[in-house]
Amino acid sequence: MNAHSNPKPQQARRSSALKGRIRVPGDKSISHRALLFGALAVGETTVTGLLEGEDVIATSKAVQALGATVVRKGEGDWSVRGVGVGGFLQPKNTLDFGNAGTGVRLTMGAVAGCPIRVAFDGDASLRKRPMGRILDPLKQMGARAVEEASGTRLPLVIEGARDPIPITYRTPVASAQIKSAVLLAGLCAPGETTVIEDEASRDHTERLLTHFGAEVVSLPEGQHGRRITLIGQPELRPAPIVVPGDPSSAAFPIVAALLVPGSEVVLEGVMINPLRIGLITTLREMGADIETLDSRYEGGEDIADLRVRASTLKGVDVPAERAPSMIDEYLVLAVAAAFATGETRMRGLKELRVKESDRLAATADGLKANGVDCEIDGDDLIVRGNGRAAPGGGTVATHMDHRLAMSFLVLGLASEKPVTVDDSTFIATSFPAFTELMRGLGAELS
Ligand code: S3P
Repeated sequence: MNAHSNPKPQQARRSSALKGRIRVPGDKSISHRALLFGALAVGETTVTGLLEGEDVIATSKAVQALGATVVRKGEGDWSVRGVGVGGFLQPKNTLDFGNAGTGVRLTMGAVAGCPIRVAFDGDASLRKRPMGRILDPLKQMGARAVEEASGTRLPLVIEGARDPIPITYRTPVASAQIKSAVLLAGLCAPGETTVIEDEASRDHTERLLTHFGAEVVSLPEGQHGRRITLIGQPELRPAPIVVPGDPSSAAFPIVAALLVPGSEVVLEGVMINPLRIGLITTLREMGADIETLDSRYEGGEDIADLRVRASTLKGVDVPAERAPSMIDEYLVLAVAAAFATGETRMRGLKELRVKESDRLAATADGLKANGVDCEIDGDDLIVRGNGRAAPGGGTVATHMDHRLAMSFLVLGLASEKPVTVDDSTFIATSFPAFTELMRGLGAELS
């Protein structure tokens, strides 16, 4: 898929106080899973608040190609009529996931337990990302990967197992995508499939499978880890899904409100699942004024309204074990750190190198292009701020990465000089209304 052949540069300028109440789009992780798990249930699953970003739309097309019926009934209101566990049909064409790593990896897992042959592909960014981490356990479960010249990168073909084997698998890195792929393949296997992770990753797969009637047991493992066991071959029963606001999208207006002097912004209905809020914990340690209002439990997740006021920040040391709970938020945290007083060291960021772009290198490059003092030390990112506005004035290469584009636009809202990103089109993969929503708060985005 190459929906973005014409790059659209965008510029952010120093803005006056951001004010207002907003609702960020539905959570991307839950939106992918709602469609995919709905496709594996017998009957109709209704989904409200679905994120209608390009990544999730790619997953909706994929599950339709695999035999599910997907209907958009209104804004964010969707219904999925599933085919049941093991019921996926062989699609006629290649499944093209565009930019979406979660979509492709979870679907690979779901396909691996069905006796069908499926071709997977994606855009230039997704084609660079490692798939061996998914193929390794799926092969142990009996799937075959017909690898193309590129080895374990897309495009590639998976032949699902006729009789999938349940396994116990220790993930080599804390990754909800790997964990979920194994559990989804395990749905088709008889007996128990177990995933062990040394650091707990986001648990939406476990929560939603339970919501659909599967038997999933999650126990603590070691200091920060989990051991998750699924009983295979359940009948998944449709249950309505209400998608909460995405904390990873909320991260951009949160940091913008902290950095632009005089700002006060309320974000409504943001998911505060403990495995997703490492950024909020870290920002609070830095001195951020983020108030949790009206926390409640809705649709199987904790959510809250967050009131954010402009704050004076100080540098902190972010421990490596916090990474899984804020893996997508380091870019915008690095932007916040550029305005803080003193050094912020973000430890253990190896996984950032294999996201939509090499986010470790690209963040450092973007900060340097805007006069911010930073360095990469092994797998750590160090940013040194002097408590004043970052100089800005640079142009940032965004490498087909939505979060790089949004993070550096946030930088520009509070920098001395405007900040330009070379391409803003990929923002549509996760946060199509970003510019509109930020402008509504008073952000100066061209
Ligand atoms: C996701 C897991 C994370 C995250 C991604 C969404 C998910 O990736 O970066 O944006 O929905 O499971 P990893 O599991 O590879 O760390």
